[in-house]
Amino acid sequence: MADLIINGKKIKAKEDRTLLQVARDNGIDIPTLCSKDALEPYGACRLCVVEIRKGGMVSLESSCTYPAENGLEVSTDSSAVIKARKFVLELLLARCPNVKIVKELAAEYGIEKPPEHLTQENEYCILCGLCVRACNEVVKAGAIGFSGSGKNKQVESPFGLEAQDCIGCGTCAFVCPTGIIKVRDIEKATEKTPDGEVEIGPERMIENWNRSLKMQTCIVSGNPFAPEFMLKRFREQLSLPNQFFNVSPSYRQCPSVDEDLCIGCGECLDECPIGAIRLIEKEDSEIRSNIMSTHCCGCRTCTVYCVRAAIKVQETA
Ligand code: FES
Repeated sequence: MADLIINGKKIKAKEDRTLLQVARDNGIDIPTLCSKDALEPYGACRLCVVEIRKGGMVSLESSCTYPAENGLEVSTDSSAVIKARKFVLELLLARCPNVKIVKELAAEYGIEKPPEHLTQENEYCILCGLCVRACNEVVKAGAIGFSGSGKNKQVESPFGLEAQDCIGCGTCAFVCPTGIIKVRDIEKATEKTPDGEVEIGPERMIENWNRSLKMQTCIVSGNPFAPEFMLKRFREQLSLPNQFFNVSPSYRQCPSVDEDLCIGCGECLDECPIGAIRLIEKEDSEIRSNIMSTHCCGCRTCTVYCVRAAIKVQETA
Protein backbone atom coordinates (compact mmCIF):
# COMPACT_ATOMS: atom_id res chain seq x y z
CA MET A 1 0.00 0.00 0.00
CA ALA A 2 1.13 3.56 -0.70
CA ASP A 3 0.64 6.47 1.70
CA LEU A 4 0.02 9.71 -0.15
CA ILE A 5 -1.71 13.02 0.25
CA ILE A 6 -4.29 14.39 -2.19
CA ASN A 7 -5.56 17.94 -1.63
CA GLY A 8 -4.27 17.83 1.95
CA LYS A 9 -6.05 14.55 2.74
CA LYS A 10 -4.04 11.49 3.85
CA ILE A 11 -4.92 8.52 1.66
CA LYS A 12 -3.87 4.86 1.51
CA ALA A 13 -3.88 3.39 -1.97
CA LYS A 14 -2.91 0.20 -3.76
CA GLU A 15 0.24 0.78 -5.77
CA ASP A 16 -1.29 -0.66 -8.95
CA ARG A 17 -3.85 2.17 -9.03
CA THR A 18 -3.32 5.39 -10.96
CA LEU A 19 -3.66 8.79 -9.29
CA LEU A 20 -6.87 9.35 -11.25
CA GLN A 21 -8.38 6.10 -9.92
CA VAL A 22 -7.28 6.85 -6.36
CA ALA A 23 -8.70 10.38 -6.52
CA ARG A 24 -12.02 9.07 -7.83
CA ASP A 25 -12.09 6.27 -5.25
CA ASN A 26 -11.92 9.06 -2.66
CA GLY A 27 -14.62 11.24 -4.20
CA ILE A 28 -12.21 13.75 -5.77
CA ASP A 29 -13.27 14.79 -9.24
CA ILE A 30 -10.76 15.17 -12.07
CA PRO A 31 -11.95 15.93 -15.61
CA THR A 32 -10.97 13.47 -18.35
CA LEU A 33 -11.58 12.97 -22.04
CA CYS A 34 -9.42 10.01 -23.03
CA SER A 35 -9.65 7.68 -20.04
CA LYS A 36 -11.84 4.59 -19.60
CA ASP A 37 -11.40 1.97 -16.88
CA ALA A 38 -11.64 -0.89 -19.39
CA LEU A 39 -8.72 0.48 -21.43
CA GLU A 40 -5.02 0.89 -20.76
CA PRO A 41 -4.05 4.45 -19.70
CA TYR A 42 -2.96 6.49 -22.70
CA GLY A 43 -2.51 10.14 -21.68
CA ALA A 44 -3.70 11.80 -24.88
CA CYS A 45 -5.88 14.73 -23.81
CA ARG A 46 -3.84 15.99 -20.80
CA LEU A 47 -7.00 17.29 -19.20
CA CYS A 48 -6.52 15.15 -16.10
CA VAL A 49 -3.33 17.01 -15.20
CA VAL A 50 -2.47 17.29 -11.47
CA GLU A 51 0.40 18.87 -9.55
CA ILE A 52 2.78 16.46 -7.85
CA ARG A 53 5.39 17.09 -5.16
CA LYS A 54 7.93 14.30 -4.85
CA GLY A 55 11.29 14.51 -3.12
CA GLY A 56 11.36 18.31 -3.27
CA MET A 57 10.45 18.37 -7.00
CA VAL A 58 7.19 19.79 -8.33
CA SER A 59 5.74 18.75 -11.69
CA LEU A 60 2.51 18.63 -13.64
CA GLU A 61 1.55 15.10 -14.67
CA SER A 62 -1.42 13.38 -16.25
CA SER A 63 -3.14 11.58 -13.38
CA CYS A 64 -4.53 8.81 -15.61
CA THR A 65 -1.02 7.52 -16.33
CA TYR A 66 0.78 8.30 -13.05
CA PRO A 67 0.93 5.48 -10.48
CA ALA A 68 -0.03 6.00 -6.84
CA GLU A 69 3.37 6.10 -5.13
CA ASN A 70 4.39 6.32 -1.51
CA GLY A 71 5.08 9.86 -0.26
CA LEU A 72 3.43 11.77 -3.12
CA GLU A 73 1.74 15.05 -2.39
CA VAL A 74 -0.87 15.74 -5.03
CA SER A 75 -3.01 18.74 -5.78
CA THR A 76 -5.89 18.44 -8.22
CA ASP A 77 -6.94 22.08 -8.15
CA SER A 78 -3.88 24.31 -7.61
CA SER A 79 -3.54 27.47 -9.71
CA ALA A 80 -0.92 25.73 -11.89
CA VAL A 81 -3.35 22.85 -12.53
CA ILE A 82 -6.21 25.19 -13.44
CA LYS A 83 -3.93 27.17 -15.77
CA ALA A 84 -2.75 23.99 -17.52
CA ARG A 85 -6.30 22.68 -17.95
CA LYS A 86 -7.40 26.04 -19.37
CA PHE A 87 -4.60 25.89 -21.90
CA VAL A 88 -5.57 22.35 -22.93
CA LEU A 89 -9.23 23.35 -23.23
CA GLU A 90 -8.39 26.42 -25.30
CA LEU A 91 -6.56 24.21 -27.79
CA LEU A 92 -9.33 21.61 -27.81
CA LEU A 93 -11.95 24.30 -28.33
CA ALA A 94 -9.91 25.77 -31.19
CA ARG A 95 -9.72 22.33 -32.83
CA CYS A 96 -13.34 21.32 -32.20
CA PRO A 97 -15.40 24.50 -31.56
CA ASN A 98 -18.71 22.68 -32.12
CA VAL A 99 -18.23 19.66 -29.88
CA LYS A 100 -20.66 19.75 -26.96
CA ILE A 101 -18.46 18.12 -24.31
CA VAL A 102 -15.52 20.39 -25.19
CA LYS A 103 -17.72 23.50 -25.10
CA GLU A 104 -19.16 22.48 -21.72
CA LEU A 105 -15.76 21.79 -20.16
CA ALA A 106 -14.33 25.00 -21.59
CA ALA A 107 -17.24 27.00 -20.18
CA GLU A 108 -16.66 25.37 -16.77
CA TYR A 109 -13.13 26.78 -16.87
CA GLY A 110 -14.33 30.21 -18.02
CA ILE A 111 -13.27 29.89 -21.67
CA GLU A 112 -15.80 31.21 -24.13
CA LYS A 113 -13.79 31.69 -27.29
CA PRO A 114 -10.71 29.88 -28.51
CA PRO A 115 -7.82 31.79 -30.12
CA GLU A 116 -9.18 32.84 -33.54
CA HIS A 117 -6.03 32.10 -35.53
CA LEU A 118 -6.15 28.46 -34.41
CA THR A 119 -9.87 27.84 -34.77
CA GLN A 120 -11.01 25.12 -37.16
CA GLU A 121 -14.50 24.88 -38.64
CA ASN A 122 -15.64 21.32 -39.05
CA GLU A 123 -13.46 19.16 -36.87
CA TYR A 124 -15.23 16.84 -34.43
CA CYS A 125 -12.43 14.41 -33.52
CA ILE A 126 -10.29 15.37 -30.52
CA LEU A 127 -7.77 12.55 -31.23
CA CYS A 128 -8.32 11.01 -27.81
CA GLY A 129 -7.76 7.56 -29.34
CA LEU A 130 -10.55 5.90 -27.37
CA CYS A 131 -12.08 4.37 -30.53
CA VAL A 132 -8.74 2.95 -31.71
CA ARG A 133 -7.86 1.56 -28.29
CA ALA A 134 -11.31 0.05 -27.68
CA CYS A 135 -11.20 -1.61 -31.12
CA ASN A 136 -7.75 -3.04 -30.32
CA GLU A 137 -7.95 -3.82 -26.64
CA VAL A 138 -11.59 -4.74 -26.06
CA VAL A 139 -12.96 -5.91 -29.43
CA LYS A 140 -9.53 -7.15 -30.57
CA ALA A 141 -10.44 -6.30 -34.16
CA GLY A 142 -7.73 -3.70 -34.82
CA ALA A 143 -9.86 -2.29 -37.64
CA ILE A 144 -8.89 1.39 -37.36
CA GLY A 145 -5.85 3.44 -36.47
CA PHE A 146 -4.14 6.81 -36.55
CA SER A 147 -2.70 8.16 -39.77
CA GLY A 148 -0.75 11.31 -40.59
CA SER A 149 1.02 13.54 -38.10
CA GLY A 150 0.85 17.06 -36.71
CA LYS A 151 -2.29 18.85 -37.79
CA ASN A 152 -2.97 16.12 -40.38
CA LYS A 153 -3.21 13.40 -37.77
CA GLN A 154 -6.53 11.57 -37.90
CA VAL A 155 -8.28 8.32 -37.11
CA GLU A 156 -9.30 6.28 -40.13
CA SER A 157 -9.71 2.86 -41.69
CA PRO A 158 -6.64 1.42 -43.46
CA PHE A 159 -5.88 3.75 -46.41
CA GLY A 160 -9.29 5.36 -45.92
CA LEU A 161 -10.93 2.35 -47.61
CA GLU A 162 -13.51 -0.03 -46.17
CA ALA A 163 -12.27 -1.33 -42.79
CA GLN A 164 -12.32 -5.05 -43.62
CA ASP A 165 -11.68 -6.08 -40.00
CA CYS A 166 -14.47 -3.95 -38.56
CA ILE A 167 -17.12 -6.29 -37.13
CA GLY A 168 -19.74 -3.54 -36.82
CA CYS A 169 -20.13 -3.84 -33.05
CA GLY A 170 -20.34 -0.06 -32.56
CA THR A 171 -17.93 0.00 -29.59
CA CYS A 172 -16.00 2.86 -31.24
CA ALA A 173 -19.16 4.97 -31.41
CA PHE A 174 -20.06 4.06 -27.83
CA VAL A 175 -16.75 5.27 -26.36
CA CYS A 176 -16.34 8.36 -28.59
CA PRO A 177 -16.78 11.41 -26.32
CA THR A 178 -17.73 13.73 -29.18
CA GLY A 179 -20.32 11.58 -30.97
CA ILE A 180 -18.60 11.89 -34.33
CA ILE A 181 -18.68 8.15 -35.10
CA LYS A 182 -21.92 7.28 -36.85
CA VAL A 183 -23.43 3.80 -36.82
CA ARG A 184 -26.69 3.41 -38.75
CA ASP A 185 -28.97 0.39 -39.03
CA ILE A 186 -30.75 0.48 -42.38
CA GLU A 187 -33.92 -1.59 -42.72
CA LYS A 188 -33.92 -1.85 -46.49
CA ALA A 189 -30.44 -1.30 -47.81
CA THR A 190 -29.88 -1.20 -51.56
CA GLU A 191 -26.99 -2.01 -53.82
CA LYS A 192 -26.14 -0.69 -57.27
CA THR A 193 -25.97 -3.42 -59.95
CA PRO A 194 -25.70 -3.20 -63.75
CA ASP A 195 -29.51 -3.65 -63.80
CA GLY A 196 -30.11 -0.78 -61.42
CA GLU A 197 -30.58 -0.49 -57.67
CA VAL A 198 -31.63 -3.69 -55.90
CA GLU A 199 -32.79 -4.19 -52.33
CA ILE A 200 -30.42 -6.33 -50.24
CA GLY A 201 -32.17 -6.34 -46.87
CA PRO A 202 -31.14 -4.95 -43.49
CA GLU A 203 -27.63 -3.60 -43.12
CA ARG A 204 -25.46 -1.87 -40.52
CA MET A 205 -23.36 0.98 -41.78
CA ILE A 206 -20.39 2.48 -39.94
CA GLU A 207 -19.96 5.61 -41.99
CA ASN A 208 -16.60 6.70 -40.63
CA TRP A 209 -14.91 3.43 -41.59
CA ASN A 210 -16.76 2.95 -44.91
CA ARG A 211 -18.10 -0.34 -43.61
CA SER A 212 -21.45 -1.94 -44.47
CA LEU A 213 -22.48 -5.28 -43.00
CA LYS A 214 -25.47 -7.52 -43.63
CA MET A 215 -27.61 -8.04 -40.51
CA GLN A 216 -28.67 -11.34 -38.95
CA THR A 217 -32.42 -11.74 -38.43
CA CYS A 218 -33.79 -13.33 -35.25
CA ILE A 219 -35.81 -16.47 -36.08
CA VAL A 220 -38.22 -15.77 -33.21
CA SER A 221 -38.97 -12.06 -33.65
CA GLY A 222 -38.08 -11.65 -37.32
CA ASN A 223 -36.06 -8.54 -36.44
CA PRO A 224 -32.49 -7.87 -37.56
CA PHE A 225 -30.29 -7.58 -34.48
CA ALA A 226 -26.53 -7.77 -35.21
CA PRO A 227 -24.16 -7.97 -38.17
CA GLU A 228 -23.64 -11.51 -39.49
CA PHE A 229 -19.91 -10.89 -39.73
CA MET A 230 -19.70 -10.01 -36.01
CA LEU A 231 -21.68 -13.07 -34.93
CA LYS A 232 -19.54 -15.33 -37.12
CA ARG A 233 -16.41 -13.87 -35.48
CA PHE A 234 -17.85 -14.50 -31.97
CA ARG A 235 -18.90 -18.04 -32.90
CA GLU A 236 -15.40 -18.83 -34.12
CA GLN A 237 -13.65 -17.21 -31.15
CA LEU A 238 -15.84 -18.99 -28.61
CA SER A 239 -16.28 -22.26 -30.55
CA LEU A 240 -20.05 -21.90 -30.49
CA PRO A 241 -22.33 -23.98 -32.69
CA ASN A 242 -23.58 -22.39 -35.94
CA GLN A 243 -27.13 -21.93 -34.67
CA PHE A 244 -26.14 -20.16 -31.47
CA PHE A 245 -27.04 -16.69 -32.70
CA ASN A 246 -30.17 -17.62 -34.64
CA VAL A 247 -32.15 -16.00 -31.83
CA SER A 248 -31.44 -12.46 -30.67
CA PRO A 249 -30.39 -12.13 -27.00
CA SER A 250 -33.60 -10.31 -26.08
CA TYR A 251 -35.76 -13.17 -27.41
CA ARG A 252 -33.56 -15.93 -26.07
CA GLN A 253 -35.72 -17.70 -23.53
CA CYS A 254 -34.75 -21.05 -22.20
CA PRO A 255 -37.74 -23.45 -22.31
CA SER A 256 -38.56 -25.49 -19.23
CA VAL A 257 -39.46 -29.15 -18.87
CA ASP A 258 -42.71 -30.17 -17.20
CA GLU A 259 -41.43 -33.18 -15.27
CA ASP A 260 -44.92 -34.62 -14.82
CA LEU A 261 -45.32 -34.89 -18.60
CA CYS A 262 -41.73 -35.74 -19.57
CA ILE A 263 -41.09 -39.47 -20.06
CA GLY A 264 -37.34 -39.15 -20.60
CA CYS A 265 -37.52 -40.46 -24.19
CA GLY A 266 -34.52 -38.33 -25.21
CA GLU A 267 -36.11 -37.08 -28.46
CA CYS A 268 -35.43 -33.45 -27.49
CA LEU A 269 -31.84 -34.28 -26.66
CA ASP A 270 -31.32 -35.74 -30.14
CA GLU A 271 -32.86 -32.74 -31.85
CA CYS A 272 -31.25 -29.93 -29.82
CA PRO A 273 -28.87 -28.33 -32.34
CA ILE A 274 -26.34 -27.27 -29.74
CA GLY A 275 -26.39 -30.08 -27.19
CA ALA A 276 -27.97 -28.05 -24.41
CA ILE A 277 -30.16 -30.92 -23.13
CA ARG A 278 -29.18 -33.88 -21.00
CA LEU A 279 -31.06 -36.69 -19.29
CA ILE A 280 -30.90 -36.79 -15.51
CA GLU A 281 -32.04 -39.33 -12.99
CA LYS A 282 -34.48 -37.93 -10.45
CA GLU A 283 -34.78 -39.00 -6.81
CA ASP A 284 -37.54 -41.45 -7.73
CA SER A 285 -35.10 -43.05 -10.22
CA GLU A 286 -37.17 -41.76 -13.16
CA ILE A 287 -35.27 -40.25 -16.12
CA ARG A 288 -36.18 -36.72 -17.18
CA SER A 289 -34.90 -34.18 -19.72
CA ASN A 290 -32.99 -31.25 -18.34
CA ILE A 291 -32.24 -28.09 -20.33
CA MET A 292 -29.01 -26.31 -19.38
CA SER A 293 -29.86 -22.61 -19.44
CA THR A 294 -26.17 -21.73 -19.70
CA HIS A 295 -25.99 -23.55 -23.05
CA CYS A 296 -29.50 -22.99 -24.46
CA CYS A 297 -29.59 -20.72 -27.54
CA GLY A 298 -33.34 -20.15 -27.29
CA CYS A 299 -34.19 -21.63 -30.70
CA ARG A 300 -37.11 -23.68 -29.26
CA THR A 301 -36.47 -26.70 -31.48
CA CYS A 302 -37.03 -28.97 -28.47
CA THR A 303 -40.57 -27.62 -28.01
CA VAL A 304 -41.42 -28.77 -31.55
CA TYR A 305 -40.01 -32.27 -31.19
CA CYS A 306 -41.31 -33.14 -27.72
CA VAL A 307 -43.97 -35.79 -28.40
CA ARG A 308 -45.65 -35.16 -25.03
CA ALA A 309 -45.61 -31.33 -25.31
CA ALA A 310 -43.68 -31.36 -22.03
CA ILE A 311 -41.31 -28.56 -23.03
CA LYS A 312 -42.63 -25.04 -23.07
CA VAL A 313 -41.43 -21.46 -23.20
CA GLN A 314 -42.90 -19.19 -20.56
CA GLU A 315 -44.07 -16.33 -22.77
CA THR A 316 -43.64 -12.94 -21.15
CA ALA A 317 -46.29 -10.30 -21.65
S1 FES B 1 -7.65 11.55 -19.23
FE1 FES B 1 -5.57 11.63 -18.70
S2 FES B 1 -4.63 12.41 -20.43
FE2 FES B 1 -6.70 12.22 -21.05
